[in-house]
Amino acid sequence: MGYFKVKNSILNGNVRISGAKNSALPILAATILSSEKLEIENVPDLLDVQTMIEILRKIGKEVIFENNKVTLNGTVENHVVPYDLVRKMRASFNVAGPLAVILGESKVSLPGGCAIGVRPVDYHIMGLKKLGFEVEIAHGEVYIKKGKKEKEVIINLPFPSVGATEHLMTTAALMEGITVIENAAMEPEIVDLQNFLNSLGAKIQGAGSRKIVIEGVKSLNGRSYKVMPDRIEAGTYAIAIAATGGKGYIEEIIPEHLEILWEILKETGTNVTIEKNRVFVDGKGKKRGININIQPYPGFPTDLQPQILVYLSLADGVSMVVENVFKNRFHHIDELVRMGADIRVVDGTAIVNGVKKLSGTKVEGTDLRATAALIIAGLVAEGTTEVHNDFHVLRGYENIVEKIRHLNGEIEHIV
Ligand code: UD1
Repeated sequence: MGYFKVKNSILNGNVRISGAKNSALPILAATILSSEKLEIENVPDLLDVQTMIEILRKIGKEVIFENNKVTLNGTVENHVVPYDLVRKMRASFNVAGPLAVILGESKVSLPGGCAIGVRPVDYHIMGLKKLGFEVEIAHGEVYIKKGKKEKEVIINLPFPSVGATEHLMTTAALMEGITVIENAAMEPEIVDLQNFLNSLGAKIQGAGSRKIVIEGVKSLNGRSYKVMPDRIEAGTYAIAIAATGGKGYIEEIIPEHLEILWEILKETGTNVTIEKNRVFVDGKGKKRGININIQPYPGFPTDLQPQILVYLSLADGVSMVVENVFKNRFHHIDELVRMGADIRVVDGTAIVNGVKKLSGTKVEGTDLRATAALIIAGLVAEGTTEVHNDFHVLRGYENIVEKIRHLNGEIEHIV
């Protein structure tokens, strides 16, 4: 396993943001529904994307991935997705429904535990049952068999789960009659998935609101589609530039997807200038602490919580960050404390007392965003930081070393 060697730096310059991982994954899963030629553009070259492509090949699709474009052909033939692929990435579970729609059945391993807390799939299963599937769980596998769907089905999610909304919306796209998802997640990635499916001939409306209505169609066509920009990658670089006291443009993004982040950065003392498809961030000067509620979209994203904690660690005063999406997503804090941060966790709330400096040491990433946060910590800390468990970051940040270096950051990937 490799690691990143990061030195104290001020990030300056421009960074071009890649296609969204969390859009590309459900879109790739949804390609199961069409047997025509599909071209998906602006797909980031990441470990998670490679895993999804491996799954699609395993179940019978022909897939070529070159220059950020995935070209797909053929029909799925195999209904089994083994554990060694599902365990790498939770989003793999989202192939279960579409696969069973096409082949009449599917068998997908249950995703394992996860470093950011227990992430069950009970809402997915509840929804699939409502859509008429028979679901059996045994020996760590979920077996799904297509049954009879009622003409109109209403699925009310207990919590606006991103994965469950995407999985059920995709599954219902080719199922006869109407399906309504209530208390749906409203994340921009869900709108992107709706746009993709509709571009193939699906009839889905409401994505981006709490209620999504799907009118089943008989088949989907082929065509090409461009994945939206990655708002979490964009937010990570914006926070990194601001935290190091540098300035620069975050380019080729949709600024509205991060309104809450721009507000928080401004309120804490960073200058933010929003343009049409780029944002200028200037982090010069002192920062003030703030309280943040981590919530589903349009609230502050849980996927930027570890990174903003690093930023707040060096801000004046006390900040409270309440995590309402993944209650236990705080494993990065122990490592930040080892670097000199003053953070305590009480009942799902991180209480941050701003400190004057962090100092570099050897730290270990526990998950994707936590590891990105530790790299930011390495950039702001005095001396050198070694961020171990490099593979986490490679799951979700395309060309991270090149991008940070382009911003004048000192980082080396030691493998
Ligand atoms: C997606 C994102 C992930 C992000 C998360 C929240 C992808 C590939 N991943 O993950 O980066 O951190 O949204 O924005 O898009 N839950 C249940 N039962 C379920 C499903 C979810 O209890 O069946 C709970 C989870 O444990 C969690 C909350 O609901 O506490 C939200 O999870 P969810 O929105 O489903 O996250 P993911 O789709 O896994």
